[in-house]
Amino acid sequence: MCGIIGYVGKNNSVPYIIDGLKKLEYRGYDSAGISILQEGKIVTVRAVGKVAELEKAALQSRPQGNTGLGHTRWATHGKPSEENSHPHRDCSGELVVVHNGIIENYLTLRDKLTQLGHRFRSETDTEVIAHLIEENLKHTRASNDEDKLIKAVQKTNVQIAGAFAIGVMWARTPGMLVGVKTQSPLVVGLGKKENFLASDIPAFLQHTNKALFLDDGEMVILRTDKVTVLDVNGKEKKVKATKISWDQKTAQKGGYAHFMIKEIYDQPQALEDTLRTARTDFAKLLGTDEKTLRKLRNIHIIACGTAYHAGLVGKYYLEQLAGIPTSVDLASEYKYRVIPPFENTLAIAISQSGETADTIGAIKKAQKLGFKTLAICNVLGSTLTRLCNGTFFTHCGPEISVASTKAFTSQITSLFALAVCLGKANGHISDADFNKYTKELTRLPKDMVQTVKMEYDVRHLTRKIYKAERFIFLGRHVNFPIALEGALKLKEVSYRSAEGFAAGEIKHGPISIIAKGTPVFVLMPADSLFEKMLSACQECGARGAYVVAITTREGEKQAKNVAHKVFVVPSTGELLQPVLNVVPLQFLAYWIAKRLGCDIDQPRNLAKSVTVE
Ligand code: G6P
Repeated sequence: MCGIIGYVGKNNSVPYIIDGLKKLEYRGYDSAGISILQEGKIVTVRAVGKVAELEKAALQSRPQGNTGLGHTRWATHGKPSEENSHPHRDCSGELVVVHNGIIENYLTLRDKLTQLGHRFRSETDTEVIAHLIEENLKHTRASNDEDKLIKAVQKTNVQIAGAFAIGVMWARTPGMLVGVKTQSPLVVGLGKKENFLASDIPAFLQHTNKALFLDDGEMVILRTDKVTVLDVNGKEKKVKATKISWDQKTAQKGGYAHFMIKEIYDQPQALEDTLRTARTDFAKLLGTDEKTLRKLRNIHIIACGTAYHAGLVGKYYLEQLAGIPTSVDLASEYKYRVIPPFENTLAIAISQSGETADTIGAIKKAQKLGFKTLAICNVLGSTLTRLCNGTFFTHCGPEISVASTKAFTSQITSLFALAVCLGKANGHISDADFNKYTKELTRLPKDMVQTVKMEYDVRHLTRKIYKAERFIFLGRHVNFPIALEGALKLKEVSYRSAEGFAAGEIKHGPISIIAKGTPVFVLMPADSLFEKMLSACQECGARGAYVVAITTREGEKQAKNVAHKVFVVPSTGELLQPVLNVVPLQFLAYWIAKRLGCDIDQPRNLAKSVTVE
């Protein structure tokens, strides 16, 4: 959570920083701030609320300077207030710090620093960093101020514990910024006579597509025309720049009212791009061979939020197509459960951002247990991708809306491709089945083009039901996780109460919450479980529910007999159907939130990338 950005270059840093913060707003948006080095003095502007508030405040005081830092906050320590907003300063006001993460030993450090005479102004853990650097500067000898700052930050880097990406600016070292990274993301953007420090690539993508990724414990020194990376031992390290293939148009709204709706419409392209690399050699990807792949006996899927729902669908794929027993855990739970040692186990972490702290913690545990690890991830160079033995990239381009849509369908598609490959490698599926599944995958982007045409009908329906207090989603087998995802999407963006259930479970309790008019969405493609779902519709209808069936063409007629409203989704194979079935539920969440006047791309209390545990 929280987004940080730094600029050092030939231009006025303010517009670069404000613009970068807008791109990082998905990481937190309860307050924001900038500090600019202006004629030897640090000028700071901070505001509660979104970056737009900060922009207004900055327009009034008009700071100017070639070196600057910015921050958009998701509060962890201390309420959202101007006082608690970043950048935080030392006692002298000559040094400022922005931070993403949590400093675990901040209370001990704060006590020590207070005894040494430091005066704290905020309730945050971040402020100790500024004072600690100030204290270290007092005791550091160096031939010039630049070296002095580097040494003082190095010392601070080992004194603080926890997860942190930090940017530091000192009034005595104009044209220079220092960054350190441990367990929170920090990327460097390499421009022409300007360089950037940021939590994520979209913050600078408009200006450069050349990036440097840092490893934990490393430090980076940015100057206008030079970037130096120091390893954990303080030795200069050569890091190869990575060319980012995301085109900056995908990081913009492109005429849509919100990123969420734009990203729903991005799905045909996202699937197309993801599938382009899906026919990959998974053995190579994992740094292993086909023989080892054939020996896989156990798969653990680990993820959070929407990615967890994709993992739940993946379990059906891996068990049915590859015959490998698969468990799916919420990353925050996996870390704390006792896992019996098991040979030939593969742990798969699914994460859009690759920076979710819980998922990273869980994959580290899997590594300690000796498991091979694979990331299914959307962000090149992210922490997760660098931790795992191999990464399967979903090529969705940047996903900005907090509510995940295109990453979800790409994750499911990737899991399907993986299961088909494993099944072929270990002989669980025949060549004929392999060809059939490959054809379904190839056709999927086209099916998605048809599916996104459903927006108008779904939008129309929401006019009737958007005021309902509670929504229910039902599915079975591969569509059960889609019911969970439909409910999560709606909760995230509209704050309505929504629950997803396995259709067979409703009679064991949940049916009691159905009242007259409760909208119940039933995922019921015309597949082997269709008859069962017809009964679910009847059970709910008999209790007064307003039943909406989501089916395929072959099921339409029968669905009309038991549902008040029927949506027809294009049909693909039974297993891949969830990729299409989720789309009307994404539109549903969007349109209910829109009618309720909610802040769709940045829902209250949420952040896209949760980099704290
Ligand atoms: C947060 C977001 C969710 C997201 C989850 C996992 O909770 O609000 O939308 O699904 O993190 O994120 P990841 O980047 O790991 O997929």
